[in-house]
Amino acid sequence: MALVPMTAFLEDAKKNKYAVGQFNLNNLEFTQAITEAAIEEKSPVIFGVSEGAMRYMGLDNVVAISEAAAKRAGVPIALHLDHGSSFDVVMKCIRAGFSSVMFDGSHYPLEENIRLTKQVVAAAHAVGVSVEGELGTIGGVEDDLDVAEEDAALAKPAEAIRFWEETKVDYMAIAVGTAHGMYKGEPKIHFDIIEEVARNIGAPIVLHGGSGVPDEAIVKSIQVGVGKINVNTESQVACTEVIRRVLEQKPNEIDPRKYLGPARDAIKEVVKGKMRLFGSSNRV
Ligand code: 13P
Repeated sequence: MALVPMTAFLEDAKKNKYAVGQFNLNNLEFTQAITEAAIEEKSPVIFGVSEGAMRYMGLDNVVAISEAAAKRAGVPIALHLDHGSSFDVVMKCIRAGFSSVMFDGSHYPLEENIRLTKQVVAAAHAVGVSVEGELGTIGGVEDDLDVAEEDAALAKPAEAIRFWEETKVDYMAIAVGTAHGMYKGEPKIHFDIIEEVARNIGAPIVLHGGSGVPDEAIVKSIQVGVGKINVNTESQVACTEVIRRVLEQKPNEIDPRKYLGPARDAIKEVVKGKMRLFGSSNRV
């Protein structure tokens, strides 16, 4: 199967009240782990690629291994740019073969965010690529993005509704209290904001910063309108913990396959658990 836009999941996820997971690619092993998890869980899945990951892996490699994964998987896979920072990077990804893009104009004033997002939507939709927009400022650190806790700003429902009406993005990320990275305490998720925005727009809400959010909060967020959940840090933690353990046990190990293989298995287990939690297992 070829890579699909995220709109391929939209109707079924909405009808059956589940969310599709975006799992970020960091290297080949992540791509393999996420693909195997999707196959075993019979789940649709979104590969998330940040600009930092793209620089690390190489754009051509990202597209080649994602296309190979989609061809082999037999489950729908979207290749999605995570937090695209400009029209140029969005176009570069679309030309290279991405099936979906996020344009993150959340740091611009509302009018400017709307104007720039509309340009991205026009270009992307013309070639069948889905678009995620963002409003409000999500805290925490993710690659090039570093937002201090005091600078994180919740999305205002009226603004989010207007943003969607004017841009018609396919998926709408709004800041509702989650953050990128692990949490010190428990995140306070504003379900009321999710519910109000979801009720008034024609697109699912995206929950960024899915790592470390308690299971009950995830389930509740899906009930009130979340249709896509992003996870990266939990997979990274699982991966690195295994590598540390293997190398502690065998300090003389020099074959990368001996520690990356078990790390890949650990990432797969994290992803499978999230797919079950999000309700996307056994949907294809
Ligand atoms: P976490 O790393 O906190 O899981 O967040 C991932 C994310 O939101 C990617 O956009």
